[in-house]
Amino acid sequence: MSEKLRIGICGTGGISHAHMDRYVKFDDVEIVGACDIVPGKARAFLDSYGLKDKPAFENVFDLIKNVQMDGASVCTYNTTHAECAIALLEAGVHVLCEKPMSFTLGQAVEMVRASKKANKFLTIGFQPRWDFMRRRVDNIIESGVLGKVYYIQSGGGRRRGIPGGTFVDESKAGFGCLGDIGCYSIDECLHAVKYPKPLTVSAIATDYFGKNPKYWPDAANFNVDDFSVALVRMEGDTTFVFKQSWAMHADSLGDTLWLGTEGAIKISNGFDELRRPSRVMLYTDVNGQHLDSYVLPNVPFDAYGGARPMDIWDGKMRGFVDALKTNGPAPVPGEEILYNQAICDGIYRSSKLGKEVEIEIPEI
Ligand SMILES: NC(=O)c1ccc[n+]([C@@H]2O[C@H](COP(=O)([O-])OP(=O)(O)OC[C@H]3O[C@@H](n4cnc5c(N)ncnc54)[C@H](O)[C@@H]3O)[C@@H](O)[C@H]2O)c1
Repeated sequence: MSEKLRIGICGTGGISHAHMDRYVKFDDVEIVGACDIVPGKARAFLDSYGLKDKPAFENVFDLIKNVQMDGASVCTYNTTHAECAIALLEAGVHVLCEKPMSFTLGQAVEMVRASKKANKFLTIGFQPRWDFMRRRVDNIIESGVLGKVYYIQSGGGRRRGIPGGTFVDESKAGFGCLGDIGCYSIDECLHAVKYPKPLTVSAIATDYFGKNPKYWPDAANFNVDDFSVALVRMEGDTTFVFKQSWAMHADSLGDTLWLGTEGAIKISNGFDELRRPSRVMLYTDVNGQHLDSYVLPNVPFDAYGGARPMDIWDGKMRGFVDALKTNGPAPVPGEEILYNQAICDGIYRSSKLGKEVEIEIPEI
């Protein structure tokens, strides 16, 4: 490994800037090249960061052939995550792949196989894992204070938040709201309980807002979901109720909830009438008395700088770079997110078929 970690960027659209803005701040990183299938796009991207001497390519294979990399960010749209991540892993490059992991479960399985075969790690870009309140909730659940967690539901959702661009084009994004923000909800709900294996999914997805010109200007070309709801049975008699929305006539789809045999955690999502953000409550019993506790949003305190929560994007990008130095482990391992992808895949299949589907995860 050279003195600086050599990083390549695959796909130089919107989100690649969030990656690059961090990489260029890190003293131990050198950007060695980029690629994008749109001619000239990777060149313009590198130039915009003053990296005129770094080579740009129009596909991942030329990037791999011409440039030595320790790690790479895959920032392409969802349907091309797998082909790019697999090519990089097979070439011996560690990969940070943007969320969702892929479009289909089959693609995700191939990504994990490629990672294992090449002995290079694959990490998925879920930056909320570095949110301090999220870590606090994960930590409380992981402590076991809730007893056996038997019911989990996702909450939140957007009232008006269809993103546009490649997010609403099925050929590029695969799915809509589900792949954009749904995969975050699934990770928020299931990471804390160590991702039980999903068994069956019964789901419905709709597009009432994206298909209505009153709410979405390019309704004629909208061809993905803008809302979905699912009942997921998981191993260990755990039930997961998933819901997510890009647009609706309400301020929230409800609370995020973990119900356990000894306690529960509830995140009241969205903003209340005073614009106060999410509130986290822990409910339990002590000697038969109900005890309701606030989980306070106090952040690690620095006596000189005041309260400073970590920027979640700084955490995500630093986490990847630090993992490169030790050849892993991956901060958000592809193997773990396979179950997230299996649920997305199950929701997609079930909603298309109009019936419950089984989730079968092939051996890796
Ligand atoms: N973590 C986050 O907060 C966050 C936010 C936005 C988007 N994303 C994810 O990032 C990904 C990209 O989103 P975006 O908004 O940047 O989309 P985008 O369409 O702006 O950019 C994607 C780029 O990838 C290029 N591309 C596609 N296939 C390619 C291939 N095979 N090889 C090389 N380049 C290829 C496209 O030409 C395009 O320039 C999506 O998966 C999305 O879900 C993550």
